[in-house]
Amino acid sequence: MDMSVLNKLSYGMYAIGTLDGTRPAGCIVNTLIQVTSENPIIAVSMNKNNFTYEAIKKQGQFSVSILSEAVDRNVIAELGFVCGRDRDKFCGSKFTLDAVYGLPIVSEHACGYLFCEVIAMHDAETHCVIMGRLLDVMEGVQEAPMTYEYYHRVMKGKAPKNAPTYQEVKRMPERAIEVSYVCEICGYVYEGDITKEPDSYRCPVCKQPKSCFKKM
Ligand SMILES: Cc1cc2nc3c(=O)[nH]c(=O)nc-3n(C[C@H](O)[C@H](O)[C@H](O)COP(=O)(O)O)c2cc1C
Repeated sequence: MDMSVLNKLSYGMYAIGTLDGTRPAGCIVNTLIQVTSENPIIAVSMNKNNFTYEAIKKQGQFSVSILSEAVDRNVIAELGFVCGRDRDKFCGSKFTLDAVYGLPIVSEHACGYLFCEVIAMHDAETHCVIMGRLLDVMEGVQEAPMTYEYYHRVMKGKAPKNAPTYQEVKRMPERAIEVSYVCEICGYVYEGDITKEPDSYRCPVCKQPKSCFKKM
């Protein structure tokens, strides 16, 4: 089966926020859809290995920040490539807790916010489809919402293996490069010998230092 046809499906880019007790948790998702319009229900596909999945199961509520094209790429790097199990991903000025539900949200360059209560969790093998009823919505900035296609084409972003739409990049034999390195934080592939870069070199996607690259 040629899975590349699945690349033609369209998505947006969202940050999910929830609480693990009183501690903020959350991650980046692209697989979010509106399911109904009256008493609106949305659905999101969540990897069962994500800490966010465990936290939502306990908390029963979650927020959605609709990311704009202008969002700082570090927001995607921090929420989309790092696990919050042992690390606070929501520190810093780009995040806040919403005043009504106390759920973490992205405070800069989000076009709008949804606040949801979980009404069902459907098993989907490696993933779980979480259905949420909207409790409330909030307007954000007047900027273009980021699409998954924009994230890949313009921002040259990648998705980690946990993302439901992840596809392994097949290397073209005719473009075979003798050595390449992968950023262990965001999956960006550096083709060539990274040791020749200056020590100040940073990953162009997630801005992590050269030491985060591993030889492939
Ligand atoms: C562009 C992008 C899209 C993603 N989409 C999803 C998704 O739809 N569902 C999902 O479970 N994980 C998705 N992920 C992966 C999670 O954001 C990632 O595994 C995160 O580190 C989980 O953090 P947590 O363990 O703190 O929950 C995506 C990541 C990126 C960068």
